[in-house]
Amino acid sequence: MSAPRNPKTFHVKSFGCQMNVYDGERMGELMAAQGMTPIDDANAADLVVLNTCHIRERATEKVYSDIGRLRKHGNDPMIAVAGCVAQAEGADIVARAKVDVVVGPQAYHNLPGLVAQAAAGTAAVDTDMPATAKFGALPARRKVSPSAFLTVQEGCDKFCTYCVVPYTRGAEISRPFDAIVDEAKALVDAGAREIILLGQNVNAWDDAEGRGLHGLIRALDRVEGLHRIRYTTSHPNDMREGLIRAHAEVEKLMPFLHLPVQAGSDRVLKAMNRSHSRDSYLRILDRVRAARPDIALSGDFIVGFPGETDAEFEETLSLVDAVGYAQCFSFKYSPRPGTPAAEMVDGFVSAEAMDERLQRLQAHLNRDQEAFNRATIGQTCHVLVERRGKFAGQMLGKSPWLQSVYLETDAAIGDMIQVEIRAGYANSLTGVERVKIAA
Ligand code: SAH
Ligand code: SF4
Ligand code: F3S
Repeated sequence: MSAPRNPKTFHVKSFGCQMNVYDGERMGELMAAQGMTPIDDANAADLVVLNTCHIRERATEKVYSDIGRLRKHGNDPMIAVAGCVAQAEGADIVARAKVDVVVGPQAYHNLPGLVAQAAAGTAAVDTDMPATAKFGALPARRKVSPSAFLTVQEGCDKFCTYCVVPYTRGAEISRPFDAIVDEAKALVDAGAREIILLGQNVNAWDDAEGRGLHGLIRALDRVEGLHRIRYTTSHPNDMREGLIRAHAEVEKLMPFLHLPVQAGSDRVLKAMNRSHSRDSYLRILDRVRAARPDIALSGDFIVGFPGETDAEFEETLSLVDAVGYAQCFSFKYSPRPGTPAAEMVDGFVSAEAMDERLQRLQAHLNRDQEAFNRATIGQTCHVLVERRGKFAGQMLGKSPWLQSVYLETDAAIGDMIQVEIRAGYANSLTGVERVKIAA
């Protein structure tokens, strides 16, 4: 542990998914409301919150190397481990790394009390999982970026055999409709022009009235000052008709869908407990494309799941070729303690084979991403200006299809402008401004 003292400055470092980014922002707001000052340099902070990810082994080990680095270069900070590693390993982290605070993703509203306990000299651990208690206990949103995250759903009941999320984030819960709409309005008042609705299975969001995620999206469509709505991550099994129809009918809903498939072979999908098949997944995409022909599709893939043969891996490649994704994430399978797949030892895929499969998959995905970006050349589209680029006068914004667009403009951060796309590369576009749409 650090020497007992009350921290005056803090730094939050988030790893992993967008929900962790959202949680990190909210922890920052909470500590600022306690009178602490946020600082950019972790090594100078009195309190460092490591908001961790447990999804793959590498992500988890990062926590321990970060703790070591802070001990060596930092200002003898109080260290709080938050996020999914905190939930999974709990008090073991105190035993292994002598940190001051361990707080799970559903308990971080208790952070000020835990910090006070640690400041008095006793390590504090809180990994309780009350359903949505934390949201009601957090301070109001203040200043946010033009594109803001808003958690609407948490947890997962799907239990894919490789995945830790059902254990670290708990059962699926949906936040109440009114609380979400209120937070969306507060975000817009605080500067948001785009809201990205977040959930581990965001399209499973529902309420007692059965309004479904599409009902929520339609309510947000009526929020004045909000220009764009996105949502992530969705599960194929929760991709209902109403949501697909919203893509055809709700103007503010952006033409982008992140719908992970993980693998292209039915045998592997079954072993993963994905509960959709290759064919049912492709049929969902057909319906989505019929509703919104220009939709950009995105996905996640795992290569080298236990027992995956070369022929089964080829089925992943042929699925990729059949879909033509705009962008994707792809990972080597990582065995996670406590998950059923970690016990599957038959057909273990060697490190070399995994590397080779990932490289081949990424070659297909990169090819398609570049083709998608090139296909936007010559089109005129809206771009939401999100931040400054590297050069003077250069700004970076996002197209409706979530591509990064670099351009020269005197538009301000948060402006929506009309842009003609001039060039498309592997990871970005460039364009020229035509008209300012909204400030
Ligand atoms: N709820 C989302 C995302 C979960 S985590 C979904 O259902 O798709 C994000 C991605 O990490 C997953 O889609 C999967 O591709 C990857 N992932 C999860 N567990 C993994 C593991 N044990 N090894 C490698 N990749 C994993
Ligand atoms: Fe993990 Fe599967 Fe749940 Fe996604 S759906 S969070 S991959 S268990
Ligand atoms: Fe990681 Fe937890 Fe998100 S394990 S991906 S931080 S839900």
